[in-house]
Amino acid sequence: MSALKRIPLAGVIGSPIAHSKSPRIFKHWLTKLGIPGYYIPMEVSSVDLEDALRHLPQLGFSGVNVTIPHKEHALGLADQVSDRAAVIGSANTITFLADGKIYADNTDGYGFVENLKQNAPTWKAGAGPAAILGAGGAARAVIASFIESGAAEIRLANRTRSRADALRREFGIKVKVFDWVQVGNMLDGAKTVVNATSLGMVGKSEMRVPLDGLSKDAVVTDLVYAPLETPLLAHANSIGCETVDGLGMLLYQAAPGFERWFGMTPTVDDALRTAVLR
Ligand code: ATR
Repeated sequence: MSALKRIPLAGVIGSPIAHSKSPRIFKHWLTKLGIPGYYIPMEVSSVDLEDALRHLPQLGFSGVNVTIPHKEHALGLADQVSDRAAVIGSANTITFLADGKIYADNTDGYGFVENLKQNAPTWKAGAGPAAILGAGGAARAVIASFIESGAAEIRLANRTRSRADALRREFGIKVKVFDWVQVGNMLDGAKTVVNATSLGMVGKSEMRVPLDGLSKDAVVTDLVYAPLETPLLAHANSIGCETVDGLGMLLYQAAPGFERWFGMTPTVDDALRTAVLR
């Protein structure tokens, strides 16, 4: 056995991967906590994903994050799957177990809820109906986390209604589907509003939702974090709603993997936000 201490290694796999902010998050935490480890962005195509996941443990990796377009595929390749990854239907956090097995988890829903808890301390999933715009992979994680956190009613609208109907069938009667063209109606009495579409992102069209029916005590959050203040959040702010930007979800979803792979609990704070936005 080598007398040298093993250098802790982790990374993120995706395609494309150059834009990923995860390396900045992990570098900040590794430096702050004085851990002599590395977190490496890896461009891997779909055909190579299985080989990559099987060989990374042999190279000394403790685990990897998985991002677009591999999140569903990675779940299917895993030997063991957490309950929440199974419910969400995709994986973002892969841990290589001591026996070489692949354990898949999904921390997106955790990141979503933690961001709201930390930045809107009075927020509660069960306070009243949640209104979710969008029915893609991100919306699945949000719906699962609302259900797990005790929400009684989840209203859902999506441009392509069939995707929302499919989520309703999958997640059950707590989910109520609204027509995209009548999206304003689902805000009446809502206590949380979530944009889980890509609208409002730099370079995309704005999310145009009439907020007239929205009560001031609703918390409005956006999964889009570029820009930090999306037009939806600016509008919600202007009518007096509490708003939470989407960067926190990205930061909090990274924490469980860091803790598992590097053995220390990281903190999400302003210094991290600054490091990631720089
Ligand atoms: P993600 O995993 O980030 O959720 P996705 O599965 O591609 O990505 O989903 C993107 C979401 O943004 C979907 O809800 C999509 O609506 P459709 O299902 O109708 O495609 C929504 N979206 C993207 N562009 C949109 C647009 N121009 N108008 C309305 N919704 C849009």
